[in-house]
Amino acid sequence: MKPIKAGLLGLGTVGAGTYHVLQRNQEEIRRRAGRGIEVAMVAVRNLERAKRIVGSEVEVVADPFAVVNNPDIDIVVELIGGYDLTRELVLQAIANGKHVVTANKALLALHGNEIFEAAQAKGVMVAFEAAVAGGIPIIKALREGLSANRIESVAGIINGTTNFILSEMRDKGLDFNTVLKQAQELGYAEADPTFDIEGVDAAHKLTIMSAIAFGIPVQFGSAHIEGISQLQAVDLRYAEQLGYRIKLLGITRRTTVDGKEGIELRVHPTLVPGARLIANVEGAMNAVLVQADAVGATLYYGKGAGAEPTASAVIADLIDVTRLATADPYSRVPHLAFQPTELADVPI
Ligand code: HSE
Repeated sequence: MKPIKAGLLGLGTVGAGTYHVLQRNQEEIRRRAGRGIEVAMVAVRNLERAKRIVGSEVEVVADPFAVVNNPDIDIVVELIGGYDLTRELVLQAIANGKHVVTANKALLALHGNEIFEAAQAKGVMVAFEAAVAGGIPIIKALREGLSANRIESVAGIINGTTNFILSEMRDKGLDFNTVLKQAQELGYAEADPTFDIEGVDAAHKLTIMSAIAFGIPVQFGSAHIEGISQLQAVDLRYAEQLGYRIKLLGITRRTTVDGKEGIELRVHPTLVPGARLIANVEGAMNAVLVQADAVGATLYYGKGAGAEPTASAVIADLIDVTRLATADPYSRVPHLAFQPTELADVPI
């Protein structure tokens, strides 16, 4: 079967990571998806840099609409970030009947309702595992793994930059700006790091998780948001002396106010008892704790930012979309996540 064709919008940290992992693991990915996934086109600002990454096999263009309007492209992978141009691009891709994979939490937190509705009407998929908690498959866990449950709460560390800053400030006594610069160099921080520091990025991700966990529309405007910019090294030390760690947590849960049921959404620095697992999540790692009625508590931990962890989630979505878009029943039913005829070829 011919490979499915993907068009990448953006080839920054995550885009380049996605391209490299797709190349490196192409045989496993082909077997898991049931057919190959080919990056056929890339839209970027810096054409020369992009050509150095993807070579001459892939068409490199400056205009992202050239990808979105190309009839040969089956899946548009949006890795540009921001929410004005990307809203237009994603809606145009959907209108053109293309599936979309995006890592863009801001876009979905602000325009998710409109985008999901458009995709539903057109019968295409919008997949966004990489938008929340980097490489941790938390979207699939909430939507598929826990789908039998009534979810009570979702809480966790969902911004790697701020967790890295808090860890380094506490352990090494470094000042805020020095550590922020390191987080930027390591590719953890957003293009505008105030989104990280002021809790906005965590609130974007929390909004998306809340919509899935509780089956509600995305409601970013209802979130209480407080970041870490007011915290000083002395606060972290005092917390430590009292047996706590300060973590920037995103929390969403069912709540009742004046007899009326609702959903709470909040992001703020929180004192967490030092013995709790979540208190010991350090550096750019993320962790999400889900409380649900049948399974109880489950905890998801892993790299929440960076090129390849995020690429891992982008490609998982590409594989899902390829399976669902392909009329091959074996690739659509992932019993073993491999085409059975090929299992014999795998050395044991
Ligand atoms: N700036 C984000 C973070 C990147 O630090 O978590 C991953 O979403």
